[in-house]
Amino acid sequence: MKFSSVLAFAGVAVAAKYPTTVVAGVEVIDTPLVREARQLIELFQEKQPYLIKHLYRTWLFGAAAINANETLKASLDIEFHAVGTLLHDLGWDMRDNSPYVTLTDRFEVDSGNAAVNWVKEQIKGDKCASKKWNAARLEKLYDGISLQTELSIIKYKNIQSQWIVNSVGLEFPGPRNPLIPEKDYNNILAAYPNDYLYRGSNETFTWMAEHKPEGSYNTFIQDFGTAFVPGYNATGHRLFDILQGGVSMEVAAHPNATPDS
Ligand SMILES: *[C@@H]1O[C@H](CO)[C@@H](O)[C@H](O)[C@H]1NC(C)=O
Ligand SMILES: *[C@@H]1O[C@H](CO)[C@@H](O)[C@H](O)[C@H]1NC(C)=O
Ligand SMILES: *[C@@H]1O[C@H](CO)[C@@H](O)[C@H](O)[C@H]1NC(C)=O
Repeated sequence: MKFSSVLAFAGVAVAAKYPTTVVAGVEVIDTPLVREARQLIELFQEKQPYLIKHLYRTWLFGAAAINANETLKASLDIEFHAVGTLLHDLGWDMRDNSPYVTLTDRFEVDSGNAAVNWVKEQIKGDKCASKKWNAARLEKLYDGISLQTELSIIKYKNIQSQWIVNSVGLEFPGPRNPLIPEKDYNNILAAYPNDYLYRGSNETFTWMAEHKPEGSYNTFIQDFGTAFVPGYNATGHRLFDILQGGVSMEVAAHPNATPDS
């Protein structure tokens, strides 16, 4: 038995060897699946071109941080990371009749479902292995993408899912995150400048509150609706309102109840 199969047999993750290429000076994975994911996000060219740059920066900042750390490099699957980062915002699609955007689910959930469904299609088209992209892996992909704004929850999930979210976090304004080597940081920003993301997200989040209010309540998108969308009214939909309704009903039905009742 070869050493690598002994490790695999013992359940130890063995870093897979993938073909690579260089994007903005960063060595990245270059499999058919990743190429297809890069092709897919060109759909944003029509209405949200700034978003393509955001998705590339997210992938590349993460990849640069992972490349610079042997521990991370050995424990993270870079194909999973590439797909998760490149496809983490499919729910932002503002095109009419987007196949990714529902009226009822928050954008993080739309994005997670869209990415999982897309990988399943790729498996059918033989662009990736179903053995590798099994149900457990697809669930991790869903977790990482759908929990991208729930940092208090994602922090106890697996490291693969966390690194989708960590890479999104490397995008936040401020000084360069020390995990990203300075040369890579400068190269990535030069190739994919970040000068419209916040205005673009302001537009997109307002659009979501207006076009899919049902999917906005009890999420931070609700605040965009309240601030910017005429006629938007979250009152009555918030968990707070629902619980206050329960309190009133309970008082009416059981006026004399006590904590011991
Ligand atoms: C590398 O990553 C590991 C896991 O996140 C972390 O514990 C370690 O501190 C990192 N090493 C460096 C040099 O940043
Ligand atoms: C943010 O979006 C709202 C709603 O479209 C708009 O009124 C506001 O001007 C935007 N802010 C900026 C700085 O673009
Ligand atoms: C918002 O909806 C609630 C519940 O239906 C209603 O009581 C309130 O008057 C509405 N507010 C506005 C500004 O329309």
